[in-house]
Amino acid sequence: MKIFLDTAEIDEIRTASRWGVVNGVTTNPTLFAKVGGSYDDVLRQICQITNGPVSAEVVAEDVDGMLQQGRQFAAVAPNIVVKVAMGEQGLEAIARLRAEGIKTNCTLIFSANQGLLAAKAGASLLSPFVGRLDDINQSGMDVVRELVTIVETHHLDAEVLAASIRHPRHVTEAALAGAHIATIPLKILRQMIHHPLTESGIALFREDWRAVQSPRLEHARVGAR
Ligand code: E4P
Repeated sequence: MKIFLDTAEIDEIRTASRWGVVNGVTTNPTLFAKVGGSYDDVLRQICQITNGPVSAEVVAEDVDGMLQQGRQFAAVAPNIVVKVAMGEQGLEAIARLRAEGIKTNCTLIFSANQGLLAAKAGASLLSPFVGRLDDINQSGMDVVRELVTIVETHHLDAEVLAASIRHPRHVTEAALAGAHIATIPLKILRQMIHHPLTESGIALFREDWRAVQSPRLEHARVGAR
């Protein structure tokens, strides 16, 4: 499963990229609003850090507006993927951008049928929102699981990107459900790295290492275990 970082914060993307685990980035208007400035500039900087897919979301309500924004984003860098919200206008924009050779990520997917239609229209990424479905007492992961099965059964030319990830367990479940990608906020990526037994294990190994340098101390401490 590929891992995307779900943020528009340049420092966060730099940090996680150094860990060698980031295959791409997703942004949305809310994430961009936390950063501010020019969306094009932010996208340009992100694309300088990663050459994986970088999703940039259109906000226009009509198809022509979506196409115009989508083309503008696509001109920023070759790895931009235009994010378009599910809907009648969204599907048309996805189909037309596909015809122009511009890749799209269909966002705000809450059912397997929506994902199926987005794939048929030509979206290369399908983004079911796991956390927002869980919030209303439905199983977000069921949608991921169903959509993965549909994509693979019918050999659709699209990848399922588990979005709206709220905790590390969502990541494990997305991987087990066969999601091709999960997009993850930095905070959750950090939670995935750390474990109390890893931290205490490191502390103990360091303590023992130091004790070897001073034999009397080592004898007393190791003997006491
Ligand atoms: C990413 O593509 C989505 O826009 C993002 O994961 C949504 O997350 P949220 O539901 O926590 O806002």
